[in-house]
Amino acid sequence: MLTGPLLEWYEQVKRPLPWRATRDPYAILVSEVMLQQTQAARVVAYYERFLARFPDVASLAAAERADVLRLWSGLGHNRRALALRRAATVIAEQGWPADLTELPGVGPYTAAAVASFAHGAEVATVDTNWRRVVARHGSAPAPSPAVNQAMMELGATVCGARRPRCAACPLGGTCAAAAAGGPAIAPRARPGSRPRFEDSDRFLRGRVVAALLSGAPLPGGAERVLDGLERDGLLVRDKEGHAAVPRR
Ligand code: ADE
Ligand code: SF4
Repeated sequence: MLTGPLLEWYEQVKRPLPWRATRDPYAILVSEVMLQQTQAARVVAYYERFLARFPDVASLAAAERADVLRLWSGLGHNRRALALRRAATVIAEQGWPADLTELPGVGPYTAAAVASFAHGAEVATVDTNWRRVVARHGSAPAPSPAVNQAMMELGATVCGARRPRCAACPLGGTCAAAAAGGPAIAPRARPGSRPRFEDSDRFLRGRVVAALLSGAPLPGGAERVLDGLERDGLLVRDKEGHAAVPRR
């Protein structure tokens, strides 16, 4: 893939997202863990609050779990917040590992993002967006930090899963799928094939943690998820069975 048109396009459209203005590996790690679950525009406020409170590895490693979860509340996937805190404790004690996937909660994508955006490594940040764009186009770009950001932006705004806008795409002239009349769109998952998010245990788990943090009564059905939350380190129970978010 020729990256010239892609990078020119990205320069025109790029949003001033705060994690694009830093090369601090800790800040980039925080942003990427948040971005795994939530759209960039929504992450900005969480990211800024989190970094204001926990500006570096040492402050997050020393944080109480409840304080971390309070700042995470609303992003979903509280377990990721605790994994991020555990990663900070590992880094605080041992330094950054050469292989970032040794850190709790860090997979190949997040490791590549930190290597690329913090250290300028020429590795591809391969996620679902990247795979979809490359599969449709028919070839992959030579990776660089700017190319990685551009591919994310393209996958999010132009070459989306459901509505690719080939006429507005900087890769249109060289894209195999566009030449074939546009990419095939995978059928949408059948409605009803999955429980609604609001009905799922994931939603209930989030409500239980929010109630524990605020001191509100636990929502109905909470018993169903208490064991799982305890296993994940999101709550502890005393001898009488009263639940609380652990401090450390
Ligand atoms: N999604 C995941 N990482 C991102 C980034 N660095 N910028 C925008 N969206 C993203
Ligand atoms: Fe995706 Fe269409 Fe661009 Fe090809 S031309 S990369 S299918 S948006």
